Amino acid sequence: MKGEPMSQKVIDLLNQGRARELTAITQYMAQHYELEDADFGKLAGKLKEVGIAEMKHAEKLAERILFLNGEPTSKPDGVAKKGQEIAEMLKTDIGLETEAIRMYNEAALTCAAEKDQISKGLFEELLKEEEGHLDEFQNIKDHVEKLGASYLATLTG
Ligand SMILES: [Fe+2]
Ligand SMILES: [Fe+2]
Repeated sequence: MKGEPMSQKVIDLLNQGRARELTAITQYMAQHYELEDADFGKLAGKLKEVGIAEMKHAEKLAERILFLNGEPTSKPDGVAKKGQEIAEMLKTDIGLETEAIRMYNEAALTCAAEKDQISKGLFEELLKEEEGHLDEFQNIKDHVEKLGASYLATLTG
């Protein structure tokens, strides 16, 4: 044992979070390549940036799972959607972030009930970043809806 009482419930939550992150990574990287290919370089760059943030989340979750003597999962909990239009992509991404926020809010509460403040703090840290991602995706979607082609033109490069 590495000094902390092990809660299987907490390990399961950390792994559920990790599986979610792995799905998000796969999705954002797929979009990154598709957007790059369609010459939407600026938007592609944004997806890459968020994808890398999710990689860091997946890594932090794995570190915590290992510390608790659990085994980090390497299986995503979903499949990346391919070939979507930009508006659909953003809808997908907003869905992923919204679901992560719901999940991490719940997880933080359970960690508190399990008296694991460190795991709770980790979920809260991730939560804050997912809210940032949601906000960014939402803003881009609003702009695309309001301004259409003229806004899309600013995302190329
Ligand atoms: Fe994340
Ligand atoms: Fe996120």
